[in-house]
Amino acid sequence: MEFSIKERFPLKAYNTFGVTAFAAEFIEINSEEALVQFFEKRKDAVQQPFLVLGGGSNILFTRDFEGLIIRIGIPGISHQLSENEVWVTAGAGVIWNDLVWYCVNRNFAGIENMALIPGTVGAAPVQNIGAYGTELKDVFGSCRVFDTKSGKISTFSKEDCQFSYRESLFKREARGRYIITQVTLRLSLNPTINTSYGAIQAELTKRNILHPTIKDVAEVVSAIRTEKLPDPSTIGNSGSFFKNPIVTVQHLQQLQFTFQDMNFVYYPVDTNHVKLAAGWLIEQCGWKGKRIGDAGTWKNQALVLVNHQNASGSDIYNLSEQIIHDVKERFNVALEREVNII
Ligand code: EPU
Repeated sequence: MEFSIKERFPLKAYNTFGVTAFAAEFIEINSEEALVQFFEKRKDAVQQPFLVLGGGSNILFTRDFEGLIIRIGIPGISHQLSENEVWVTAGAGVIWNDLVWYCVNRNFAGIENMALIPGTVGAAPVQNIGAYGTELKDVFGSCRVFDTKSGKISTFSKEDCQFSYRESLFKREARGRYIITQVTLRLSLNPTINTSYGAIQAELTKRNILHPTIKDVAEVVSAIRTEKLPDPSTIGNSGSFFKNPIVTVQHLQQLQFTFQDMNFVYYPVDTNHVKLAAGWLIEQCGWKGKRIGDAGTWKNQALVLVNHQNASGSDIYNLSEQIIHDVKERFNVALEREVNII
């Protein structure tokens, strides 16, 4: 198998922030076999820094990447039916939203609330994507991974992946070690519609839909996202830039005591912890819709940082530093970035 490695490769079209950066080397891999062979041939690739790229929707390049970028384009979706369930398998390069509609159109339920999340299937487990009341871990069956250390393919179960809120093994201790090649989801043939997220129910009511199908949910979620979030093809962004911070109940009570006139937005996590809405905290610090040069926060959702046109990765990063600083100073809450910084 021949591999065509491109040198000094421009990444502008490969990151949804649309910032300018170059990769010293770049290769697109479209099958598991090619991935295994490539690493066999290029043993040195494991020695030098390398980075796996999917849709480029959760990454901010603040500099050129002085190593090899491997873009995973493995295609294909298939499914296997059993009595009440269906197992849907997709290649890591499949666009996540295409997988959602493959399932919705066949009435396979479980990922309709995650319609229109940007990015690829292979990136989904890395940060345990989630939206509108569902997380990938709720429907995750298994994934196939290539271990760059051993050069072997293996299968990881849900437990192996150690999912938590926007986190997994792939983002933590095993960072950079495994390359996800395929994901299998366990979906239901007897849909339970999840409209627990207020905005979904409100939009269904507005549309006079009393008995929603999963297609209705996917459409409503897509409409809410389109209204609230900027479209990366016209304005560079990578969705939520920060995670919603998890704090102790005691911390929340202190905040509520200090800021008695404020209505803190939070969601319960467990008996001792709550998740604060980072977008709300950022808005309270006066950052909503603000910009410094071409780097800004989105006018409808302060948690989303945007590139108005010509911002560099560093401009966006510097803005995020200022936001972190202000939220820390005002509320003593440490915001953590969800986006990977290069
Ligand atoms: N809010 C504000 N001001 C803002 C933004 C939000 O007051 O500028 C308030 C909203 O009014 C709402 C609350 O904060 O009461 C939560 O806002 P929203 O429903 O937009 O959700 P979020 O918590 O900001 C999370 C995910 C999103 C996901 C939505 C819907 C994270 C980091 N983000 O955002 O995921 O779509 O919930 O489930 O968990 C992503 O990860 O890229 C992403 C877009």
